[in-house]
Amino acid sequence: MMKQNLCTLAILIASILFVSCESDRDGANGSTSPGEVSEAQIDSLIALMTLDEKLGLIHASSSFTSGGVPRLGIPELVFSDGPHGVRHEHGRGWHALEDYDDEATYLPVGISLASTWNRDFGYKYGEVLGNEAKERGKNVLLGPGINIIRSPLNGRNFEYMSEDPFLTGSMAVGYVKGLQDQGVAANAKHYAANNQETDRHNIDVIVSKRALHEIYFPAFRAVVQDAGIWSIMGAYNKINGQYTTHHEYLNNEVLKGEWGFDGVVISDWASVKDTREALLYGTDIEMGTELLRDFDNPVYEEFYLANPAKEMIESGEVDESYVDDKVRRVLRLMQRTTALSDHGPGKRNVEEHQQVALDVAREGIVLLKNDGLLPLDRSELRTIAVIGHNATRHFAERGGSSQVNALYEITPLEGIQNLAGDDVEIVYAEGYEPYYDESLFADITGDAASQSRENLREVELARSANEALMQEAIALAERADAVIFVGGWIKGHEGMPWGEGTYDAEARDKLNLKLIFGQEELIRQINRVNDKTAVVLMGGSNVEMENWLPDTPAYVHAWYPGMEGGRAIAEILFGEVNPSGKLPMTFANSHEDYPSHSIGEFPGDGTVEYTEDIYVGYRYFDTHERDVYFPFGFGLSYTTFEFSDLNITRQGDKVLVETTVTNTGERGGAEVVQVYVHHKDPSVDRPIRELKGFDKVHLEPGASATVNIELGESAFMYYHPEELRWTLEPGSYEIQVGNSSRDIKLTGVVEW
Ligand code: GLC
Repeated sequence: MMKQNLCTLAILIASILFVSCESDRDGANGSTSPGEVSEAQIDSLIALMTLDEKLGLIHASSSFTSGGVPRLGIPELVFSDGPHGVRHEHGRGWHALEDYDDEATYLPVGISLASTWNRDFGYKYGEVLGNEAKERGKNVLLGPGINIIRSPLNGRNFEYMSEDPFLTGSMAVGYVKGLQDQGVAANAKHYAANNQETDRHNIDVIVSKRALHEIYFPAFRAVVQDAGIWSIMGAYNKINGQYTTHHEYLNNEVLKGEWGFDGVVISDWASVKDTREALLYGTDIEMGTELLRDFDNPVYEEFYLANPAKEMIESGEVDESYVDDKVRRVLRLMQRTTALSDHGPGKRNVEEHQQVALDVAREGIVLLKNDGLLPLDRSELRTIAVIGHNATRHFAERGGSSQVNALYEITPLEGIQNLAGDDVEIVYAEGYEPYYDESLFADITGDAASQSRENLREVELARSANEALMQEAIALAERADAVIFVGGWIKGHEGMPWGEGTYDAEARDKLNLKLIFGQEELIRQINRVNDKTAVVLMGGSNVEMENWLPDTPAYVHAWYPGMEGGRAIAEILFGEVNPSGKLPMTFANSHEDYPSHSIGEFPGDGTVEYTEDIYVGYRYFDTHERDVYFPFGFGLSYTTFEFSDLNITRQGDKVLVETTVTNTGERGGAEVVQVYVHHKDPSVDRPIRELKGFDKVHLEPGASATVNIELGESAFMYYHPEELRWTLEPGSYEIQVGNSSRDIKLTGVVEW
């Protein structure tokens, strides 16, 4: 009887506390607007909790929820993937629910967003995700993916943004603000240096602190310090011998210490590997451990931060204050989000969301080559042959955890058919079909090996089927006035186990950049019979080009452009939209050209040495003057632009860069002014240039605009390799202004 009375009293106290603290939320302006944190309320709740209740808050209670405290009115936290659309509903298990209303807006993938170089789109993109997550009852959206593209072979590059930390951070900051303004927490992932999928659960990344601070950390630092992100996801891999999800340097010293992060570190699903480390080194919520045990019969009490943690606390090996800090962070997150605050209703599958998907697709598509074929003039064409499997394929459903049940997905063929007009006949041939080709795999082992052998016949059959498909396509190309070839990579593959495959997919990396399924020969054959061929490639990175590009009049890279992607591709091919996308990663011809392969290791074996250090992407290619097919920041337009009047002004710890851009062509378009910094006489090794500012301007023919870009002193600093601190060295710094890392239009000098 006594115990029951005490419980009743506790609940009464808690409800009073809830009510009383509601009114004294110590928000920034003392208001009680949703999302404000009340430390006083958190203190009171922690004081009421038992150790079991505290531990329940810091580990999973189902596949995508972490525990609450019903006795105190504290709900579970509800998570959902993914970075470019709210994932299928899995309920409390690991199988997508059948016949569930989880159709969603399928946005262009992360690397498409980065290719727009349009900061406004970052916010709008996050806003869509926040509204749709809120409408689906989610408190945390597991995105953005902001790992640096170190190798073009990483199977998840499509989910990330760039080889450059400044571009990644700039786009991610808007994304996080847009998302969190809806009351849903962003969860930047995967912190840090998760730059490959091979052996992802255990690979130990050997990397210098300078490379961490100059390359792999900055985007995470930006979302913490410039966007106030409420949660971060730890990664699977180790860094320098310790698992990143409970890494003393990454979490305690840098993230929560130096950067002042007051939010929650959520593990990746099954990335916690040690109770003591998770308690001491910054893991705040453990998720997904059942994936390494028995995910159909999970026992959450056996999670690392459940009973094993209880034993450590009760034995005195670890002080309970470590648990209290985690609980504080979780309650803060709940107060900020829809878990404990009313942020109003969300919305899903509305036209304004689909418009964002279209706008981002339009500005994220990159025109890389055009000898004048584009835009196609419909008045001069009677028949257009559309060739290629990717012209009709849907991409939203596969690729791993970032899968989306798209409300619809306009394919390139549909987009072209819708826009070509009644006077143009559109004919289609698949040209090739994907197959599960074991020769694309590296280490086939166990079930995959037997499945691979079993598939071998299928592969042979597919190859011969592709021969027939190729001949049919070539015949079609021969009689058409122009050809649009739509090919490239695919996201995942229905013929293989989830996450398997050397295509664009989570849990596997590609073996090389060779165009798969016989596409290279098909493009060559098409070029032979028709000299008006435009190639459109999808994919999360580039492909080898030297055997087909020289004879191809036009090439457009479309990444995975989302549910409106087919429409945007057609609008660009027919000139309704002037392309303005710029590459967020260098397109070299072979993966072996990239420093992660030529200097560093990829994918390593147990450990992977980042010997290239800070020389990732253009920092390497430009500094060492290596040939590339298309440089970082490059993208063509149907108009031309001129840069003039560069003024550089030093004002205290700021440098103002001003330049004028003029549209010197015949039609409206957009240009991206890129500002690179080059330290002319450094005392340590530094890249020949580093992107430190950019702005995108839309201009009508003949119009000019003055672009002002402000650089803080941090834009001139480097992380000292020995002294291990940010350093601003006196000297001359060249300011390089251009529209790609290899097309610098104007330069100036500023002294520090
Ligand atoms: C996956 C991914 C992560 C995802 C999580 C939940 O393994 O690495 O990006 O958010 O698990 O699905």
